[in-house]
Amino acid sequence: MCGIVAYIGPREAYPIILKGLKRLEYRGYDSSGVALLNHGLHVYKKKGKVADLEESLVGKNLHAHAGIGHTRWATHGEPSDRNAHPHQSANGKLAMIHNGIIENYAQLKNELQKKGYVFKSDTDTEVLLNFIEDIQKNNYCGLEEAVRIALRRVVGAYVIVLLDQDNPDTIIAARKGSPLVIGVGKGEHFLASDASPIIEYTKEAVYVNDYELAILRPDELILKNLGNEKLTPFIQKLDLELAAIEKEGYDHFMLKEIFEQPDTIFDCLRGRLDVGNATITMAGVQNNIEHLKNANRIIMVACGTSWHAGLIAEYIFEELCRIPVEVEYASEFRYRNPVIHKGDVIIAISQSGETADTIVAIEKAKEQGAFIFGVVNVVGSSISRIADAGAYTHAGPEIGVASTKAFTAQLVVLALIALKIAKEKNAINDDRYVHLLNELHNVPEKAKAILPMNEHIKKLAEKYKHAKDALYLGRGYNFPVALEGALKLKEISYIHAEGYAAAEMKHGPIALVDEALPVVFVATKDSCHEKIVSNIQEIKARKGKVIAVVSEGDDVIPKMSDDIITVPEADELVAPMLSVIPLQLFAYHIGVAKGLDVDKPRNLAKSVTVE
Ligand code: F6R
Repeated sequence: MCGIVAYIGPREAYPIILKGLKRLEYRGYDSSGVALLNHGLHVYKKKGKVADLEESLVGKNLHAHAGIGHTRWATHGEPSDRNAHPHQSANGKLAMIHNGIIENYAQLKNELQKKGYVFKSDTDTEVLLNFIEDIQKNNYCGLEEAVRIALRRVVGAYVIVLLDQDNPDTIIAARKGSPLVIGVGKGEHFLASDASPIIEYTKEAVYVNDYELAILRPDELILKNLGNEKLTPFIQKLDLELAAIEKEGYDHFMLKEIFEQPDTIFDCLRGRLDVGNATITMAGVQNNIEHLKNANRIIMVACGTSWHAGLIAEYIFEELCRIPVEVEYASEFRYRNPVIHKGDVIIAISQSGETADTIVAIEKAKEQGAFIFGVVNVVGSSISRIADAGAYTHAGPEIGVASTKAFTAQLVVLALIALKIAKEKNAINDDRYVHLLNELHNVPEKAKAILPMNEHIKKLAEKYKHAKDALYLGRGYNFPVALEGALKLKEISYIHAEGYAAAEMKHGPIALVDEALPVVFVATKDSCHEKIVSNIQEIKARKGKVIAVVSEGDDVIPKMSDDIITVPEADELVAPMLSVIPLQLFAYHIGVAKGLDVDKPRNLAKSVTVE
């Protein structure tokens, strides 16, 4: 979490940094700040969104050719002006921004306090900065050497970027566990948490690895390891278009990304699914097919929405491949002592590829001999680099904090992988295989057919926006969709919502049902259809309000529901790729109707790079 941007070169630094911070605001938005070098160090910080910072700086002389900027998601210390980054060292000469957590900060702080250091903020960042200053003082060394010495003592995750008043032509940055990209321009360098602040200026980028230090000057980029050995920067071409990271006429990124799903699902299938020849081309699967088809067990490891994709994948893989599947929260998996054998395959699912818990979980599993397969959206991200093999979801940049298009793309990729393994294993008969290839092929068109329901769903949102709680129920493949629908509503509208397997309702949650409780049923036509009809009757008998997502042509459930949303009929295995879309829209419109900032829900950040 937290977004960082830096610039050094002939252009004005402030406008580049400000624009970059706005692009990175999805990573955190409780406060922001910039430090600019212009005959000394000038630091400006503000609680609130980047727009608040911008407003507070109107009329100021912000001329500078080197600067750093930060948008924060608070870890140590409440959101406030004084806890916002950049922080300044005690002697006022250094400014630093930080993304991550310094776990041994209390010990370092104690040591520094004994030496007389006084802290202006509650942050771990200020501690590390003064620790660096102190090393510089005691060792009579330059900033680069001081950073290197300091980082050898630091426990935790970080990207740090420093400006030094005494060396105005140099920016120093280092990374362990949080993302950092350098944009290489002509006589200028850019630096950011992801490529979005950079692509407008250059398509040449260097992804900094863990334990590396970068020294940036307008016309020089030096990369070193913490042992002070020079490394050769690997310059990559950025495959990202500006349009992909702009709203393009939509009110919110979330709405744009929901509406993009017919295209992103199509992109995800493109070049992989060949219905005519009944083949699936996926190099990551094909090249590792022995590992995958002979897996004793598959463990899906993920967090949040990606974990819900893992739950659906459990149903798909067990049905098609007949391989036992477990689905684990990365945060739990990494801290217990899981039994992992050599023949186990871990599928790590992540939009960002930077989720701290997922990274550590797969690192641990890899150490114990598991084969790691990544299903990741962000190309070049940490998880994609740690994994032994993988398949990208190709959903394009997802900027709305609530995951939408990445989720459906994950489902598509996971279904393709399962189908390919099942075919290689001879675990699926030809008719079912060909039928499912066709079903997948038809998903983009069917997703498109759902979008005109937007206006109807907006009206439903108006009707239900005052609800205090909501229940989401589904069975079989649609059970994880119910969980995902509830998560979307919680995070976007702040309405308390719970997802349940519909039959579990009778074991407790049914006690919540009264005439004020909206109950959303994900009830498309599948093998559990008759059962879910009974569950709806049970809710109606207790006067609950039923909103049902049903398949076109269903003439049973609409008669017993208060409101319905219709989606095209599809095989139950692909149905979640469609039935989730109205739930995304429902959460979106309730959030908007309540006047909330749906792209930046409170307390959340897009990439959870702290555990
Ligand atoms: C919810 C949401 C989060 C993420 C979770 C994992 O809308 O976006 O729950 O799904 O933080 O993130 P990734 O997929 O980047 O690992």
